Formats: sequence, C-alpha cells, structure tokens
Amino acid sequence: MIELMAEQPADRWEVEALYDLCFAPGREALSSYRLREAVPPVSGLSQVARDEGGILAGAIRFWPVRVGEAADPALLLGPVAVHPTHQGEGLGGALIRDSLAKAAEAGWSRVLLVGDAPYYRRFGFAPLRAVDMPPPTNPDRVLGLDLVADGWADVHGQILSWRGPQQPG
Ligand SMILES: CC(C)(COP(=O)(O)OP(=O)(O)OC[C@H]1O[C@@H](n2cnc3c(N)ncnc32)[C@H](O)[C@@H]1OP(=O)(O)O)[C@@H](O)C(=O)NCCC(=O)NCCS
Repeated sequence: MIELMAEQPADRWEVEALYDLCFAPGREALSSYRLREAVPPVSGLSQVARDEGGILAGAIRFWPVRVGEAADPALLLGPVAVHPTHQGEGLGGALIRDSLAKAAEAGWSRVLLVGDAPYYRRFGFAPLRAVDMPPPTNPDRVLGLDLVADGWADVHGQILSWRGPQQPG
C-alpha cells in the first residue's frame, strides 16, 4: 500500500537522493534547474509517495515560473521520479494525476514540463509551441496542459524564474 502525502522540509534530502538514483548524473545542469534556483517548490502540490514501511517510493515537485508578460505564474512540473523497484505500477501516473487535480482545485491555470511526450500525453500534455525555455532545451520536449479552459491561450514568450508570490491568480 503506497500513500501520497505533501512533501515536508524534512523530506528534502531523501527526495534529492531518489532523483539522483533515477536521473542521469548532471541532472542539475539542465536548463529547467535554472528556473528552480532560489525559488522554493510549491508547497502542498509537491508530494512524496511512501510504502507501508515509510520507505520513499516516488516524488513529484512543482515550481512557479513566469511566462512572458502573463501576470500570474504557470506551474513547472518536475522532477517526478519513481524508485526502480516500483516503476510500472502506476505510481508515476498517480503522483501526476493527484497533483494536477490539487493544482486545479487550488486555482492554477496552466502547467508545463520538459519531458517525453509519449509518456506525458496520457495526462493530456501536448507540445507548447508559443513558449521559449532557456537553452539548451529541445522544443519538442516542452509540453503544456490547461488546468482551466484555454489556460494557455494568449500566454506566450520566454519562460523565466518566478520571484513573486506563489499563489495563482
Ligand atoms: C517516468 C516515471 C516517473 C514513470 O513512473 P512509473 O510509476 O513507472 O509510471 P506508470 O506506472 O504510471 O506508467 C508506466 C507506463 O509509462 C511508460 N513510460 C515510462 N516512462 C516512459 C517514457 N519516458 N516514455 C514513454 N513511456 C514511458 C511505461 O512504459 C508504462 O507503459 P504501459 O502503461 O503502456 O505499460 C519513472 O519511470 C521514472 O522515475 N523514470 C526515471 C526518471 C524520469 O525519467 N522521470 C521523468 C522525467 S521528469
């Protein structure tokens, strides 16, 4: 039995260790990490998954980012990772769906990520052509999802680090 719960400050280094295990070395050199520097993850949406023994099985984090001239932030999804012993059990999907439902409930309008379209399209993500991630990023891997009707309509431009309050709207 795996339980999802909001990530707490005490979970931080355990989650980092899981990410180190699941991603290639040098993950922090990716341009998406520049958007996360000096900005805390969105509390409440960033979640951990633990088994009945309390062992960390998966984690997902979200950051707020600025998109062009939009007044409100978008959510940057990721990293999301599931421990190799639990991959393929639906946990990654559960973390993503549960967090996106919470984000919509909290009033966020739009979410983006940099990742594999063949995995993320099942959650409704589609290529986001009107935004520019900091280089080097393969534009085909920049994917977006509306959390409200037309959440990405008329939102375009450079993705920048968010230095304002985290609340949507
Ligand atoms: C990607 C990841 C989070 C998926 O978690 P998971 O719990 O294994 O995923 P689920 O059980 O919900 O879904 C499994 C399905 O996704 C598919 N899948 C997993 N990664 C995929 C990818 N990169 N591209 C396409 N499909 C993928 C599996 O083949 C499987 O397909 P099936 O349902 O047809 O059998 C996990 O494999 C992981 O931690 N990978 C390493 C880190 C990573 O790449 N994170 C994502 C980038 S931010």
